[in-house]
Amino acid sequence: MERKKFIQSLLGASAFAAFPYSSYAKDDSSIVQMIQNASRPTTGNLFGFKVDGIEKVRVGIIGLGNRGTTLLEMFKWLVENEDAEIVALSDLETNKVTKAAENLSKWQKLKPKTYAGGKDEWKKLAQQDNIDLLLITTPWELHTPMSIYGMNHGKHVASEVPIAYTLTDCWNLIETAERTKKHCIMLENCCYNEEELFVLNMIENGVFGDLTHSEGAYLHDLRAHMLSTDYYQDQWRLKHHIERDGNFYTTHGLGPISFYMNIGRGDTYSHLTSMSSRELNLSRTAKKMNSNYTEFKCGDMNSTMIKTELGKTILLQFDVHTGRPYSRINKVVGTKAVHDGYPSRLYIDKDELSYWGHKWLNEDEYQSYKTKYQHPLIGKLKSISENFKQGHGGMDFVMIYRLIKCLNLGLPLDINVYDSVMWSAITPLSELSVASKSLSIPFPDFTGGNWQNKEKLEIMRELSTLDNKK
Ligand SMILES: NC(=O)c1ccc[n+]([C@@H]2O[C@H](COP(=O)([O-])OP(=O)(O)OC[C@H]3O[C@@H](n4cnc5c(N)ncnc54)[C@H](O)[C@@H]3O)[C@@H](O)[C@H]2O)c1
Repeated sequence: MERKKFIQSLLGASAFAAFPYSSYAKDDSSIVQMIQNASRPTTGNLFGFKVDGIEKVRVGIIGLGNRGTTLLEMFKWLVENEDAEIVALSDLETNKVTKAAENLSKWQKLKPKTYAGGKDEWKKLAQQDNIDLLLITTPWELHTPMSIYGMNHGKHVASEVPIAYTLTDCWNLIETAERTKKHCIMLENCCYNEEELFVLNMIENGVFGDLTHSEGAYLHDLRAHMLSTDYYQDQWRLKHHIERDGNFYTTHGLGPISFYMNIGRGDTYSHLTSMSSRELNLSRTAKKMNSNYTEFKCGDMNSTMIKTELGKTILLQFDVHTGRPYSRINKVVGTKAVHDGYPSRLYIDKDELSYWGHKWLNEDEYQSYKTKYQHPLIGKLKSISENFKQGHGGMDFVMIYRLIKCLNLGLPLDINVYDSVMWSAITPLSELSVASKSLSIPFPDFTGGNWQNKEKLEIMRELSTLDNKK
């Protein structure tokens, strides 16, 4: 019964509609059939989706904790340049809204409408007429319902990561975006980081030859934040580690890798297998800190292997329990070059047997590649984003700038609803695999077959298209 509840929580009731669970109960491989049962038809017609330009994008923000507060600051330059305006703010907690409104008043004249003090107050914000874009920076479990409600009330939506963590959420998001014809973007900021854009630009210019493999991760010691009673609201993040086991935070590693590998634009994920180590370190730390929660299901280290339809492999890791320096790995292996992140290093292969295989480029050679292949967006925005260093070294500003400018100009967004869902869907699929002795799990086609169309990434589009009125 527990197992049935677990699978149902990830796949939704529809997985059981055609065949009763009892037919599957003794056989893990039947999970594959259940995933197929849970799949729904999609048109895939939101690739390249655009709407008429919005001269000044009116934004409502839901969730003003750590992330909402940072992203709010990223709008300062855009508000001052009349590209955007913050018209509404909402949080469960009144003091957070008051503080955000105070901060905003330092650089925006218009006073936003505020909604706080109840768990459904945000719905009033989503219903407010004069809003173009909802920015959702709440705990994970609220991303899908808030995005769907927002689109159903005529808003474009931009959600923090991950946008979904059950397969049912994934299908519901696509169905709503296709029906309402609204943008639904997941705000994966690491796609806008200088190093990832430099690697992407080299790949697009053929430096790596043909890609075979990539590795990404979220390796971040979050013990102090998760165990603290006043960092995450109501310790929401820790609670996921009590209940679940798998890779919960896929998108910081997988978003950039999916751009590198043209996922959704000529290739897609075919299947995955996932394994979690035992859990030791979060519980040991929790006991030392006399936490109210001391038992966790999530292993310290999750490793998920994904194979693409064109035969590339991806290793994706997740560990927020172990004390160690931060890393997203950012390894890319191609027939002509290899990159490793943390710190960033580059190996360029030559057709010379004596040269093969031993040395990274030296600092001068590396810098010459960095200069030559710097993504033009970074060059263009460096002087502005320098002022927004608190946004993860500038990438948060680049992301928000790019989102708003694309809306101003009526251009397709860099990350569409299919990207958002595909990068997030790895989480429930990894959980299913972990719970079934690393069973190979097929990846559903969320794109209606349109992943087969070889399209250029929006982020590699000519930058001249971004030079609007100002
Ligand atoms: N992309 C990144 O680099 C990055 C960095 C940090 C956090 N995040 C993501 O941002 C999201 C928020 O994380 P955080 O660190 O800000 O957490 P947080 O707990 O500090 O903030 C969440 C906020 O949502 C509010 N909230 C909860 N329920 C609500 C409701 N019903 N209505 C309105 N507001 C509600 C809470 O009161 C809180 O202020 C998460 O999804 C997290 O994964 C992303």
